[in-house]
This record gives sequence, C-alpha cells and structure tokens, in this order.
Amino acid sequence: MSTTTIYQKRRAAVARALKAAGGGIALLPTAREYPRNRDTDFPYRHDSYFYYLTGFDEPESWLVIDASGKTTLFCRPKDLEREIWDGIRLGPKAAPGRLGVDAAFSTEALDTQMPALLANRKSVWFPFATHEGLDSRVDGWLDKVRARVRLGDECPQSHNDLCGVLDEMRLFKDGHEIAILRRAGKISAGAHVRAMQTSAAMLRNPVKGGLREYHLEAELLHEFRRHGSQFPAYTSIVAAGANACVLHYRAGDAELKAGELCLIDAGCELDGYASDITRTFPAGGTFTPAQRRLYDIVVQAQYAAVKATKPGKRFNDPHEAALRVLAQGMLDTGLLAKAKHGKVDDVLESGAYRQFYMHRTSHWMGMDVHDCGDYTEPGSKPRPDKDAMGQPIMRKPSRILRPGMVMTIEPGLYVRPGKNVPKEFWNIGIRIEDDALVTAKGCELMTRGVPVDGDEIERLMVG
Ligand code: GLY
Ligand code: MN
Ligand code: MN
Repeated sequence: MSTTTIYQKRRAAVARALKAAGGGIALLPTAREYPRNRDTDFPYRHDSYFYYLTGFDEPESWLVIDASGKTTLFCRPKDLEREIWDGIRLGPKAAPGRLGVDAAFSTEALDTQMPALLANRKSVWFPFATHEGLDSRVDGWLDKVRARVRLGDECPQSHNDLCGVLDEMRLFKDGHEIAILRRAGKISAGAHVRAMQTSAAMLRNPVKGGLREYHLEAELLHEFRRHGSQFPAYTSIVAAGANACVLHYRAGDAELKAGELCLIDAGCELDGYASDITRTFPAGGTFTPAQRRLYDIVVQAQYAAVKATKPGKRFNDPHEAALRVLAQGMLDTGLLAKAKHGKVDDVLESGAYRQFYMHRTSHWMGMDVHDCGDYTEPGSKPRPDKDAMGQPIMRKPSRILRPGMVMTIEPGLYVRPGKNVPKEFWNIGIRIEDDALVTAKGCELMTRGVPVDGDEIERLMVG
C-alpha cells in the first residue's frame, strides 16, 4: 500500500466516524512554529494528529474532512523568495497529487474558504484544548457563516471534540506504524548499547575532567541521528548515581564514577514515532552486590509485567504484577521492615511501597512518547477503586489490552537515604523500560536490542 493510500484510508475512517455521529465537518491545524530566541525557532515538529492523517510536515497547514469523505488541505503558497531561505514548499497546486486530498488552497485563503466549508454542516469537529486560540478562530469563521443565514446558509449547531475519534484510531497501530516503531526501537537500543560501552571504556581509560553525563548523552544523540532519527522523542535522562532518584532528571554535567550506577532513559523519534527505553547499568561495567540485588528485583518485576501484557488482560494488570514483585523485594531486602509493614499484601494495601516506587509501570506509546488513548474501557461502568494516594474513588475499569496497542513496561526502585533505610542501598535508582506491542498471543518487546539481564549487561560492557 502506498503511503498516500494509508493516509487516505485514515481520513476515510474519520469521515465514517463523523457520519456515524450524525455528520459534520472536521478541521485540524498542524503545530505552530515556536521562537527560541530573536529570529531563531525551535526545531519544527508537526502536530501528531495532523501528521497521522496527512504524512505532511510543513508548518501552517490545515486539514478539513467532510463527513461525505471530501478532504481539503490548506498549505503555504509557493514563494520563491521564502523558499530560497527556508526550503521548498509543496504548494496547493501539487498537494492533491502528492497527498491524495481532493482540494487544496493556500493558507492565505483560510478566512475566506473556511466559512464556505463550514456552512450547511450539522456540526463542526476540531481538537479541543490542543491549539491555543483555535476555538476563537473557529468562532470567527462561524460568525461569518451566521452573517449569511438570511441568504439561506445554515450554521453548524454544535462543536465536537475530534480528539476522541483520533485517539481511538491512534491507540491501535497499523502495519505501517508498527514497522516504524520497530525501527525506532532498534535504533534506540543500539544507542543504549553504545552509551554503556562508552561508559565502561572511558572509565577504563580516564579522560581529563572525568566521564560526564553529557558524554553519554552525546553518544545517544550520535547514534540516533546517524540512523536517520530526526529528534530525540523526549529530553534524554542520563543520571549518574544519586541523580537516578530524581525522576525527571535531565542529562547534566555530573561525573560518572566506577562503582556507581548510571540510569539512561532515552529514545529516538523516527518518522514521527517515538521509542522510550530505560536501562540502568554499572558505570564501570560491574555491579556491586547491593546494586545487583535491587537490580534483579526490578528485572523480575519487569518479567512479571511482561507476562501480564497480553490480549484480554487489562492495562493495570502489568502494573499490579510488577508492584507485587517490587513490594516483595522491598520486604526481602529490608527496605521495608517486615515487623512494621507485614506481608506483601499488607504493603500493597497500605501503599508503603510508594517510598521506593512512586510511578506507574506503563503508558501508551506511539507518535507521542506518552501517546493518546483512553486508559479506561469505553462503555464500562465506574466501580470502586483507589486513586494514586490510595484514597477510594469511583473509576471505570482499566482498558482491556488488544493486539495493536503499544505500551511501555517500566518498573523501578528509587532509594533515597532515610532513617530505617539500609545504608548499602542509599542513592540507588533503577528503572528498566521497554516498549511492548500487544500481539495476538502476548506481546513483542521492540526494544530488546539492548539487554536487561545483569550478566549480559556486564558482558557487553567489559570490552
Ligand atoms: N521517558 C519518559 C517516560 O518514560 O515516561
Ligand atoms: Mn516511558
Ligand atoms: Mn522513558
């Protein structure tokens, strides 16, 4: 299937969803360009929804889909002067041939064409709360339609959120998306291997100034880019020693020392799709016994979660499976005193594990690293549950896993120094994260080009 056909099919699915909901017209802008300073912009990144339906990554573009299936694109006009400075523009004349849309106009014609497109439609659909000022822009166009009602035009009667339709589509990855996600996962895995090996090599042959977090970040970026990745999918975390206990740490300039762990959470974005990998390894290539003890608990927690990632299980099941292993590990190692905290079920019930494991085990992943998609099962009834702090609430049961969904599996343990916390574990922060595609029988880990087993990591690092 040509890529144009893939996007046409997705647009047709949106049209069918509009039709099923009673008709209407959907409009969708791409992302803005953002200034970084003076006349320099941040690197441009398209809007994921827009790209999902067009494969087009020029700024200032808009897509319109009518419930009848007709599609219209607005894009920047050809402009020789601007193209000399900023690069070639597709232009509206070439857009139908290249992108398979039915019609195309210059973005300069938005304010004249959009009211005509919106007139006599039952409702207007656009993504709510994702583009600043979009709702007032739509209101302005509707105002223009309303000004023509005396001439017989009708104005749309309702606004609908387009995100719901697109989120559900994007939750289930098609073959085209899966192929890219696998490639992104492979590139990122290679980058982690490179960073691990560089870490050990630089500690074996010390450089002036020492091995710094940014040295390893540079290795990651080098590996991403040399395989064609356009960007990191998110800001890379390279955390030396105690920095690993700061969940949103960024790669800084801290020194990595033999005997300490390094936690790297980094993944590339490839052709609009993310990858998201975390590995924790001994900076010098050999775990200490205390590090290895906690590390193996996290590995076992991840295995348990992987086993629970299969069709028919719910989104929360891998989290609960990981949590049980982690909580048991906390008791076995004395991180939580048995005399005070009881048995594993007591720890799960009391939430005492949150001292060392305070985040969830999974999130959807796709075009966005924290991808869209409903985490609860659509159409189900709320039932008693607990919130993140263990307080009782009513919540719909979590989503039933089905083939085509992609989620991360990322358990961890983070030990900050504290009274009653065994000193040998102080400042150890460990997370292991892979990207799982739910398949017909279980799940495929797309990021296992870099090992998780402690012995394998050590073997990889001793060169
Ligand atoms: N790297 C972001 C996350 O793991 O959720
Ligand atoms: Mn993640
Ligand atoms: Mn991550």
